[in-house]
Amino acid sequence: MPPNLPLDLSEKSIWVAGETGMVGRAVLRALENEEGNIISAPHSVLDLTNQQQTYEWLGANKPNIIIMAAAKVGGIGANMAEPAAFLHENLAMAQNVIHGAFQADVGKLLYLGSSCIYPKIAEQPIKEETLLTGALEPTNEGYALAKIAGLKLCQFYREQHGCDYISAMPTNLYGSYDNFDAEKSHVIPAMILKFHQAKINGDKEVVLWGTGMPLREFLYVDDLAQGLIHLLKNYSDSSPVNMGSGQEISILDLAQMIKNIVGFEGGIKFDSSKPDGTSRKLLDNSKINDLGWGAETQLEYGLRQVYEWYISQSSASLAA
Ligand SMILES: NC(=O)c1ccc[n+]([C@@H]2O[C@H](COP(=O)([O-])OP(=O)(O)OC[C@H]3O[C@@H](n4cnc5c(N)ncnc54)[C@H](OP(=O)(O)O)[C@@H]3O)[C@@H](O)[C@H]2O)c1
Repeated sequence: MPPNLPLDLSEKSIWVAGETGMVGRAVLRALENEEGNIISAPHSVLDLTNQQQTYEWLGANKPNIIIMAAAKVGGIGANMAEPAAFLHENLAMAQNVIHGAFQADVGKLLYLGSSCIYPKIAEQPIKEETLLTGALEPTNEGYALAKIAGLKLCQFYREQHGCDYISAMPTNLYGSYDNFDAEKSHVIPAMILKFHQAKINGDKEVVLWGTGMPLREFLYVDDLAQGLIHLLKNYSDSSPVNMGSGQEISILDLAQMIKNIVGFEGGIKFDSSKPDGTSRKLLDNSKINDLGWGAETQLEYGLRQVYEWYISQSSASLAA
């Protein structure tokens, strides 16, 4: 039973799982322009790895729409240190929310995967059809396997039960409320943190992981949030949808850009004994572009916004 598109969000109850996270908060900001009713259940009141709690909450609250942006998320270091936790927790959250949504008769579910679901060696830009055609990047295999299971669950509930569950595969994201924990962060907050600390300490150089050579694509999280709402309203199919900016930059150039924004005047050194991760990862965004969405925020502008946000947060926590 194919749904009528575009989906009308007014009078629908919408639950953003992961509402305190970087993506969840951006989706809530984007939903302020819509007419749906937001219902809330942050991690502090609902642990999505707990099956019974999740099923009971979904059964009692019966949202019409779920945006599944809850996950255990981290950079290369965190993924390598805790592969079991990345696989187990993300698998449990995907299974509990997706099966729970089915039991609670949720009308539409948008599941967030990640571009790391694609094989380590893949033709660039990476099309959605590349999924499961080769071995995964070993440094985040657990996380990627869990994300693949989540998107397959969406496909199979659609096939077997006619559920309108869709999935989006965002590229590397950045924005306010990113994780600035030195041990767990992704590349952009990790660099902002390092250059900012080095500026304060008056250091002569900053040492970064890897060779600086890999190419990466980045998407501003508020652009992603607009795209997710667009997808929710206008897409109903089993194939996942890539979401990226279409722009790539080397880690070295990114480091230079962040160094300049932060105002650090020392040098940059790369520690090539540390892993680089995949050498290049650019998504083919034709499908989402054809659906009428494209990223708008230029990387340098977005990075300035994030640095301003980081400074305002650090000043607020110092003042508290
Ligand atoms: N960040 C990226 O670059 C990126 C790229 C591609 C895809 N994605 C995907 O986008 C989604 C959101 O990522 P994000 O960057 O927003 O991550 P994030 O900032 O770490 O947010 C994760 C959210 O999930 C919640 N959560 C974690 N464990 C939970 C549990 N057991 N029960 C309930 N809630 C739990 C967190 O709550 P607490 O903070 O309270 O624990 C937080 O609200 C994820 O699916 C991720 O795979 C992210």
